[in-house]
Amino acid sequence: MDKFKNYCVELLNISKSFGGTRALKKVTLKVKSEEIHALVGENGAGKSTLMKILSGAHQKDSGRILLHGREVSIKNPHQSKALGIGIIYQEFSLVPALSVAENIYLHDLGRESGYIQWRELRMKSKALIQKIGFDINPGEKIHRLSIAEQQIVEIAKALCQPLKVLILDEPSAVLGPKETEKLFQILRELKKEGLAIIYISHHLDEVLRLSDNITVLKDGLSSEALPSGKTNKDDIIQRMLGRSMKQMYPQRTPKIGREVLKVKELSSKNRVHKVSFSVKSGEIVGLSGLVGSGRTETLRAIFGADKKSSGHVFLQDKKISFSSLRKAVKSGLGLVPEDRKQQGVLLNLSIKNNISLTSLDELSHRSGFIKAAEEKENTKALIQKLSIKTKHENLKVEALSGGNQQKVALAKWLTPHVKVLLIDEPTRGVDIGAKTEIYQLLNEMAQTGVALLIVSSEIAELMEICDRILVMYEGKIQAAFEQKDFSEENLLRKAMGQ
Ligand SMILES: Nc1ncnc2c1ncn2[C@@H]1O[C@H](COP(=O)(O)OP(=O)(O)OP(=O)(O)O)[C@@H](O)[C@H]1O
Ligand SMILES: [Mg+2]
Repeated sequence: MDKFKNYCVELLNISKSFGGTRALKKVTLKVKSEEIHALVGENGAGKSTLMKILSGAHQKDSGRILLHGREVSIKNPHQSKALGIGIIYQEFSLVPALSVAENIYLHDLGRESGYIQWRELRMKSKALIQKIGFDINPGEKIHRLSIAEQQIVEIAKALCQPLKVLILDEPSAVLGPKETEKLFQILRELKKEGLAIIYISHHLDEVLRLSDNITVLKDGLSSEALPSGKTNKDDIIQRMLGRSMKQMYPQRTPKIGREVLKVKELSSKNRVHKVSFSVKSGEIVGLSGLVGSGRTETLRAIFGADKKSSGHVFLQDKKISFSSLRKAVKSGLGLVPEDRKQQGVLLNLSIKNNISLTSLDELSHRSGFIKAAEEKENTKALIQKLSIKTKHENLKVEALSGGNQQKVALAKWLTPHVKVLLIDEPTRGVDIGAKTEIYQLLNEMAQTGVALLIVSSEIAELMEICDRILVMYEGKIQAAFEQKDFSEENLLRKAMGQ
């Protein structure tokens, strides 16, 4: 059949190595116009690398790229763009200090005449954002937007020129259910307009619902394209992991002790209004709610990353108010932030250095010298425990795949002195096998008496691993559910303020 249908884009036998790592070994991916093609695979399978070759960010070692049957050479992002290829990267690429409009038209600024028509740019940006169904002020600075809003701007930015191919590398990871639905609508529209869309995601249910065909990457090798209607989740998991997955969530037998974290009438200028609750030792409490409901901001206010405007936080009955984040860490409070690239890891430090940052005291002699052998052992153990895919513990974190960076952000906090861990979206961007490992890990931490507070947009995940779930709405705690009352409907209804 293939012979009679024309492909819009063909990546043929693409190979790529980074130093000693063979990221892609003769990978083939073919996508037609008017098709949504999903690309799935474990963390580190090579998905982003393949797409970066198409977008000109990386150079292939060998293989061919065809557009409408013609071989093209893509040596840099400009060439890729000129060919009508748009990409939304897994990690954000917006400039935080610039406005929405400036970011969308950054590449065009000053290109035509010496004058920049600000009014026109703002109007064009507004129209573009409205076209995809959202309303964001084009004059607003990026750093003032929520992560979901930033993602919308990324999409608008990709769409500001005529496209043949649109690549989305895990676009829904930062979106809530409502926004994801909207995104799907946009993509279906764009497909009708004739685009070839390549969609990368770890949410296999989404992938099956949205895509026409699915290609699986495993260890740098590609599968034949599978028609989405003729496959299912188990089949894809089997192809991704090379094994089936029987149990996603751990069996929990919680050992809940005394209260460790207590939050009393906590408010911050940033979306948190008189929030009160507590978490006990060994307990896993979920914080649910829609994007923008104040979940992240609550974690940040507890940790002291945002200034609180009133209220108190108690750690083991002691009132805490940290003058520095270092002190928070020292007293046993940890935070895994949602935006790992900006706040969770230091990209140009090694895996080992990132992991050791939170345990410098344990890992140093009194003289201040690092216990190098212990540090190395500790890192290696964690790399193994979390199945972080890397050749070496001294590799810089920026060389890891997105999901593996997330694991490093989490591994940092697996130290004995942590008593309370606040975690924002623990499994964002993580593949389905690694998710299971992370759930296992959270459960083990709870077993050793750590109190866990987890923000997640995945309701199913919270319902499976939490002992209690608090639902936030407009900066307030709208409801609290015990396990026996968990249901998606209950949680969603409260999240919408009913
Ligand atoms: N700049 C780089 N330097 C060295 N190695 C790299 C670099 N970029 C990627 N790699 C390696 O290439 C392999 C594929 O990574 P890639 O980011 O393409 O995975 P992925 O499928 O997108 O994973 P994820 O689902 O976690 O985003 C990994 O082993 C990764 O560590
Ligand atoms: Mg990736």
